[in-house]
Amino acid sequence: METKQLIGTFEEIFTTADPRVFFAPGRINLIGEHTDYNGGNVFPCAITYGTYAIAKKRSDQKIRMYSSNFPHTGVIDVEMDRLDYNAAHDWANYPKGMVKFLNQRHQSIDSGFDVLFYGNIPNGAGLSSSASIELVTGVLLENLFNLEIDRIDLVKLGQQVENQYIGVNSGIMDQFAIGMGKKDHGILLDCTTLEYEYAPLELEDYKIIIMNTNKQRTLATSKYNERRNECEKALVYLQQELDVLSLGAITEQTFEGNKNLIEDEVTMRRARHAVTENARTEKALHALKDGRLNEFGKLMNLSHISLRDDYEVTGLELDTLVEAAWEQEGTLGARMTGAGFGGCAIAIVEEDKIDEFIRSVGDKYLESTGLEATFYIASIGDGAKEIKVGG
Ligand code: GLA
Repeated sequence: METKQLIGTFEEIFTTADPRVFFAPGRINLIGEHTDYNGGNVFPCAITYGTYAIAKKRSDQKIRMYSSNFPHTGVIDVEMDRLDYNAAHDWANYPKGMVKFLNQRHQSIDSGFDVLFYGNIPNGAGLSSSASIELVTGVLLENLFNLEIDRIDLVKLGQQVENQYIGVNSGIMDQFAIGMGKKDHGILLDCTTLEYEYAPLELEDYKIIIMNTNKQRTLATSKYNERRNECEKALVYLQQELDVLSLGAITEQTFEGNKNLIEDEVTMRRARHAVTENARTEKALHALKDGRLNEFGKLMNLSHISLRDDYEVTGLELDTLVEAAWEQEGTLGARMTGAGFGGCAIAIVEEDKIDEFIRSVGDKYLESTGLEATFYIASIGDGAKEIKVGG
């Protein structure tokens, strides 16, 4: 939908003119999966799909919210001093959480506002629509109320909303990628220190293809939290001998020498994924910087294998898509992206071979799972910001 059209809808619903327009992207992660909450590295980028927020300040203390994606929930109306989580408010809990936490920090949101949201991130695809709505709310509050907020603080606030208000124990990667994204660049982020580095995505004749399994991610939250706990357990075993604060601080070699400290095999494999994936992420950055694209692709494949066999977060749908992608001529590498358990995978594919890739991978997927996959060519865009309409 065009921003003009969104402004029109806003004006109709809220009977007021001249709102401002904000946008926050979704994200994909190139490599470095389930490493963020283990204090390791991630390598995500922001995509040009995302969430728009059309907003205007009010003179009273009401927040009125509407989503063009969920018209059946209508306008959700809340008072500035009644911002507790409410399951009946559904998607509107994300913006509510941001207002609540930001206000606790800054105490300077002095009035209510009207806002219309519209997202074009495929629904439930694991491309971080929730972090996107958090961050688009963050930038709209920052701009409507002239707050001075360090961008990394805004990113942390988004994660805090996710963890403490929504109740998903996620790491910092999604909010960071969405808050800090840069057109045509990936971000290598050290999730312990929050030091980061932008790396140009120079993929020559190749494109990043997003492949959506279109499988609903049902058990995702409970399984996600279960993996976190398993990693914490592994760390405690390893700390009997190693002076480390996270799995991300352990090299592959040190892990091999000490993995027998972990008493059960499943927990050992979870930790092995966290350690090897972290190492792969650094290797991938170097490969990309040196233009060794083949090597980069191989590391992506190894990442998927580790997520499939050691971390066990892939499942039939993601494995089918990725394995079909590996067989295609012109594929440099492919892997699941995000939390897993359904959602999306990505592949790096030679431009001339994309049509054949989509046809053939789509057919194989339909045959094995009975589901239709959706394919998108990813464009790497900027992080959350205001969009100036008409110049
Ligand atoms: C989800 C979480 C992130 C990260 C990924 C897995 O997207 O929100 O913090 O843990 O899963 O890498």
